[in-house]
Parts: sequence; structure tokens; C-alpha cells
Amino acid sequence: MPFFSNLGSDSPHFGAALSACAPLCERSLWGLDPQAVFLNHGSYGATPKKVLQAQSVWRERLEAQPVQFMGEELPRALRAAAAELAHFVGAEPENLVFVENATSGVNAVLRSLRFRPEDQIACTNHGYGAVRQALQYICAQWGAIPVEAQIPFPIAGPEQVIAAFEAILTPQTRLAVLDHLTSPTALIYPLPELIGLCRERGIPVLVDGAHAPGVLPLELEKLGADWYTGNAHKWLFAPKGCAFLWVAPYRQAQTHPTVISHGYGQGFTAEFDWVGTRDPSAWLAISAALAFIQGVGLDNIRQHNHTLLLQARQLLLEALEGIPPAPEKMLGFMATLPLPPFWQQWIPELPLGERARRLHDYLWHTYRIEVPIIPFAGQLWVRISAQVYNRLAEYEQLALALQHLP
Ligand SMILES: Cc1ncc(COP(=O)(O)O)c(C=O)c1O
Repeated sequence: MPFFSNLGSDSPHFGAALSACAPLCERSLWGLDPQAVFLNHGSYGATPKKVLQAQSVWRERLEAQPVQFMGEELPRALRAAAAELAHFVGAEPENLVFVENATSGVNAVLRSLRFRPEDQIACTNHGYGAVRQALQYICAQWGAIPVEAQIPFPIAGPEQVIAAFEAILTPQTRLAVLDHLTSPTALIYPLPELIGLCRERGIPVLVDGAHAPGVLPLELEKLGADWYTGNAHKWLFAPKGCAFLWVAPYRQAQTHPTVISHGYGQGFTAEFDWVGTRDPSAWLAISAALAFIQGVGLDNIRQHNHTLLLQARQLLLEALEGIPPAPEKMLGFMATLPLPPFWQQWIPELPLGERARRLHDYLWHTYRIEVPIIPFAGQLWVRISAQVYNRLAEYEQLALALQHLP
């Protein structure tokens, strides 16, 4: 069932949604450079000034009496913040801890587990680079083998993800690492079905949901995963360094933070809530981030961003004479689009990654457009994000910039 099923361009609601697609929020609510065309919310998010002010208030409270704050105030404040975030993602508060980012969440899980030589870890070729590196590290340590399902891109539909993933599961598969929303290709994976395949075979599942909170409705207690990590600093407007790890109760005793500290042996939340002195203000500001979302309206945000994304995608595909590489139902607030042949052939003597970097830098330095250029499956792609401060004219600027070589 697509999450944004009533908003497709073939839907009777699409016209109304299109006309509502002015920016939902004034861009001045963010500190974003007014000269920049910022089409890359996906990489690091962008935090509203109001949320940053709330974070500063927490920092001031800490610095007014660090000892009292860390010892007395923080433990309660942190659990209260975790409970608010847990409520938003459909989790029980005692099953959710803060981590600094999704990379940390993935590492905490992978480094907690034990493998035998020849054990297989199932993942996909659309996985995030840092997570694939962590898998390499773990596999090298234990002699385990990462097995990547080759998910096609362009892709016709979620069935292709399911078929490719099922094909790599074997009796030796000991863990599956699955994205909820992929980074290079911006695809919503059919997670319930993929988890179902794993559960039938007794394979534990770690979900990298870095991009999902705020984009997709989450019911973590019902999803059936063993571990789920997600970022609040991307699409939940929290300050950078605000992310979470949810762990199913029966996995908590075997799951430890990568850094072991005072809480070791005292239970799941105690272990993760204190991993040494650090600045907890990004986590404590989650309340302000969720209040910001509530102020704008979660449904309004979802409707605006997804509709703007579809408009922008159509505009760019027409301007660049491209074919949609994924069905609308697999998209949230980001889309990855093919660049035309003349960009694919641009400076062919350089490696693909270097060409991607140069095109990104060219767009920024020449047009002040920030958008990721992605080398994937031997080609160059552009990944657009749609957020409440964006307007369609910004994607027109991108289309114009991409219509000719430097
Ligand atoms: C799918 C996915 N996983 C993990 C990450 C890493 O996020 P972070 O840098 O916050 O750890 C990203 C970042 O874009 C991502 O897209």
C-alpha cells in the first residue's frame, strides 16, 4: 500500500494538491543562505532557528551548573525526550535510546553481534556507503560474508526489490541489514514484506531508517524488525546529532553501545543513556522539533513535500528528456533522476565519482544550487529533495543549469 496513494499525478486530488504547492513555511525560519537554491535537505537536514534556540536554552541550563545538570536533571530529561520521540515513531519509551546518528546506531548493533566464519549478512546494493563499510569491517573481523542483493535501478516496482532480496537468502544468512528509504536512489523499500521473508526464515533484521522518520509513518513496535535506527536530524527538523536506536525487548540484553561506560550491565537504556560526557542538547531539543512539526501540521508537511517532489520530478524529467526511474509510490520527499547522455559523457577520462564531485561543485559555484550528484550503477544521477521551504521555481533553476555543459 503506497503511503502517499492519494497524491499521484493520475489522481483526481493531484490538481488541488498542485495548486497548494507554494512554500509551506517562510524560508527565513531557517538560517539557510538566502542566495542558495537548497535542494538537498536529505543529506543533513536543515534545522529551524526556533529549534536551535531551544537547543541553546538546554546548553545554557547545562552550563549554569554542569554537575547538577548531568547528575540530576539529565537522566530524567533524557528519558522524557526519548518518550516523546518514541510516541512519534510508535515505540515504547523503554525500547528507544538516543544515538548521535544512524551510523552510530548501525555500528552499535553490528559490533554487538557475533558471527562465525562463512555466516552471511544479507544487504542490498542501494545501501548507504558508511553502512556498507561497517559491514565490511564486521565481516573481516569474523570471517563472515556480506551478500548484496542487486536491486535494479531504474526499477518497475517494489516486487523487484522483494524478488532480488529473497533470491540471496540462504540457510547461512544470519542477519539482514535493510534500508527503509535508500540513500543513492531515494526508494521506499517494501519493508514489511522484506521483514516477513526474514522472519519466515528466522533471520534477525536491522533496519537503517536514516531517512524515514518524518517522511513515513512509523509503528516500530508492530514492524517486526529486531533493530531500527533512524535520524531525527534529517526530516524531523532536530539539531544535528539527534538520532535513535529502537531495539526489540528480546534483543536488548545482547545490544550494547559502541562505547562502554558506567551503565554497562545495568540495562539497555542505562547503557545507552550515558556513554561518557558529551553535549546532549540535540536530543533534548527533540521536543522543540516535534512542536515545530505540530505547528506546521505533519499531514500538511507530507502533502506539500510529496506533491512538490512529484511536480519537480516531472519538470526535470521533461527538461532533461529523462524517463522516470521509479514509480511514484516508491517515493517520499526525494527522487533520484538520470542525467542526460551529454553529462554522462562529460570529462570521460575521469572516474565517475570525480565527475560527480565536479558537477556538484560546478552547480554550486556557478549557480549557487546545492544538490547531490550521485554516481550509481555506472551512471550519474541527480537527487532532489523537497522540503517545506522549497518552491517549484528552484527546480526550474536546476533544470536550466543542467540543460547545457559548462
Ligand atoms: C540510508 C542512510 N543510512 C545512513 C545514513 C547516515 O546518516 P548519519 O550521517 O546521520 O549517520 C544516511 C545519510 O544520509 C543514509 O542516507
